[in-house]
Amino acid sequence: MKIRSLVMLACTVLSVHASLADDKIKRSDYHRPEAIPAPASNPLTTEKTTLGKTLFFDARLSRDKGMSCATCHSPDHRWSDGRVVPLGSEELEQPRRTPTVMNSAWLTALMWDGRANSLEAQAVLPITTPHEMNYNMKQLVERLGEIKGYQPLFEAAYGDAEINTQRIAMALATFQRTLVSNISSFDRWVEGDEQAISTSAQRGFELFNGKAQCAACHKSWRFTDDSFHDIGLDSPDLGRGKAIPVEVTIMQHAFKTPTLRDLPENGPYMHDGSMTDLEAVIKHYEDGGIERPSLSKEMKPFELTEQQRADLIAFLKTLDGGPLAVEPPALPKE
Ligand code: HEC
Ligand code: HEC
Repeated sequence: MKIRSLVMLACTVLSVHASLADDKIKRSDYHRPEAIPAPASNPLTTEKTTLGKTLFFDARLSRDKGMSCATCHSPDHRWSDGRVVPLGSEELEQPRRTPTVMNSAWLTALMWDGRANSLEAQAVLPITTPHEMNYNMKQLVERLGEIKGYQPLFEAAYGDAEINTQRIAMALATFQRTLVSNISSFDRWVEGDEQAISTSAQRGFELFNGKAQCAACHKSWRFTDDSFHDIGLDSPDLGRGKAIPVEVTIMQHAFKTPTLRDLPENGPYMHDGSMTDLEAVIKHYEDGGIERPSLSKEMKPFELTEQQRADLIAFLKTLDGGPLAVEPPALPKE
């Protein structure tokens, strides 16, 4: 009895130590959520997911039937396109790189500048944007109405076969909510599997939360604070600053903090796709970015050794859960 209590006491002391260490390096802040959130007005259902997936992969949502959502948000590129400049944006003065739509169920502000506030509201934008799918919702509703194969899909999702803008947007949003990162080796480490990531990556995690100050903005399990910052990139794009009065200095050149999960191996990274390797990204942070009034206060120069840089990169690689196994759907026939 006595021995048992001693053992128990020892265990308690040990676990107190473990949790103290956790507090210091904040490992416990990175637990994945248990469930996918969805608004009460658009709950997740398998029928809506099936419809949304079909619409997402269907190029008939664009005027010339040449571009679907998946053209730019492709499962082969972690639901982005691997391009510095998205298709169609070549002529734009300030093109922006395509972000992933993985884990978008948790987004509170959408687009690099936060100009959409829900997946439902966002879904209409690419369909109607001239340099993207270049269509309009009225004609799209008519076109889908003529495709017989869509009728049973709308009926299953909504109880009747009516097609309208809201239903299209709700289904696209629902499908995207189901695109959640696979469990990565980092997740297994957070859950207590000490061998899941290398000691180099573990040192990288400490740097991420310590000396390199990455966690000031890349927080929580998605590695974003869902906020906007100027990290001092040499880009003429004002980002959120375009939509916010100039007096709000810190929003000039500010872009949404992107997730760091499932980063593509060789980028491109950043809103302008200007970086193609993680070493360059880290060196940018070490330099501290362009000095200007809008530069984030969290951008403080620091210096890493070669080994520390390699550790930080090793850590970032543990956040990759690999491609999501999503089979492209069979598209409904006319
Ligand atoms: C021509 C390429 C292209 C196509 C087609 C396209 N997108 Fe995008 N998508 C982008 C780009 C570029 C952005 C970022 C634009 C910005 O921030 O100004 C984006 C942003 C998004 C976002 C916001 C992600 C975030 O992190 O804020 C979502 C969600 C999204 N797209 C969904 C869709 C859906 C749904 C469709 C089909 C109806 C679609 N996209 C079609 C290129 C594309
Ligand atoms: C001040 C907040 C802040 C800090 C500190 C910060 N980041 Fe970022 N990070 C951002 C923002 C904002 C962007 C997008 C900037 C843009 O495109 O204009 C970004 C982009 C990135 C990207 C590109 C991701 C993509 O999909 O394009 C990587 C990788 C990255 N950060 C890693 C790091 C690392 C590693 C550190 C620490 C050395 C760090 N960040 C520190 C806010 C921050």
